[in-house]
Amino acid sequence: QVADSLYILNNFAAKYFSEQLWNTDEGNNIALSYLEQRGFTKSILEKFQVGYSPNAYDAFTQAAINGQYNTDLLIKSGLTARNQHNDSLRDNYRGRIIFPVHNISGKVIGFGARVIGKAENTPKYINTPENEIYVKSKILYGTYFARQAIDKADECLLVEGYTDVVSLAQAGVENVVASGGTSLTTEQLRLIKKYTSNLTIIYDGDSAGVKAAMRGLDMALEEALNVRLVLIPDGEDPDSYVKKVGEKQFKKFIAEHKKDFILFEMEILLREAGNDIARKNDAVNKIAESISKINKAEDFTKQQEYIRQCASAMKIDEGGLTNLVNKYT
Ligand code: CTP
Ligand code: MN
Ligand code: MN
Ligand code: MN
Ligand code: MN
Repeated sequence: QVADSLYILNNFAAKYFSEQLWNTDEGNNIALSYLEQRGFTKSILEKFQVGYSPNAYDAFTQAAINGQYNTDLLIKSGLTARNQHNDSLRDNYRGRIIFPVHNISGKVIGFGARVIGKAENTPKYINTPENEIYVKSKILYGTYFARQAIDKADECLLVEGYTDVVSLAQAGVENVVASGGTSLTTEQLRLIKKYTSNLTIIYDGDSAGVKAAMRGLDMALEEALNVRLVLIPDGEDPDSYVKKVGEKQFKKFIAEHKKDFILFEMEILLREAGNDIARKNDAVNKIAESISKINKAEDFTKQQEYIRQCASAMKIDEGGLTNLVNKYT
């Protein structure tokens, strides 16, 4: 019941925000011009139903109230917030670009709202709060638009943000979803696994990006996904990078820099360990643990292959590594 009302309200809101972007002077001059200056085309913005929430105290909220939506629902949806001081209702996303978040059947379940320009004294994005239909741990932005392409490519690309998904789609790379900058959950990985077993994580090349990616690795292996990793050069993200080097170079970069994730993890850990015996021992244990996450019944050959490659790279005995892997199983 509440869920149905939320779907209807979100649909109303998405239409409202889109109307504001395309058919008002404020939307054109402030929001559309910003988006075009960033290189987004009109057709890709339409496809993703990008919109604009006007910079007015309660313009949307009043429109919704006129449309007979009740205030409890408005607050639950996150579209409206209550002013703590005078109890009045205000638009939560005012003056922001709106990225509607769709579920797998195309219904709008929430919104990401980005400030225009630099974020000063305010979060860059405001997202829908958890409610009956918006459960963050189960959502990947872009799934609705990407599902056919994921099926066809038999591969899902995972990026951090809204604009990465939209930019890559604009560049013709459509099998892309975003985690929203947070670490991956098992539920999100299972969602991907419904469409493909091949996951390629494309994160920032900075150390935060690498760490975030590594946190997801063992979980992904447990879900029997083949995980590959591409690190975008430091200081860039997929959106900025594809716009910098162009579509063709970007695709080439991805193809050439795709690394198997277990082997990548091993490289990093070994490099960090250097000549320190204790740290090398930790690294060997960590790799054994990761290899142990590969489902042995389903993928015995794959596990064997990793044991062979890792033992040789780490200059340790294959039988010894096998025993260690089994210890973790
Ligand atoms: N994010 C968020 N809240 C913030 C900052 C980030 O929810 N205050 C999430 C958003 O989903 C965002 C993602 O983390 O898309 C990645 O963050 P970031 O790289 O900072 O933003 P971009 O996606 O690159 O957005 P833009 O290109 O518009 O700067
Ligand atoms: Mn970031
Ligand atoms: Mn980063
Ligand atoms: Mn980014
Ligand atoms: Mn960005």
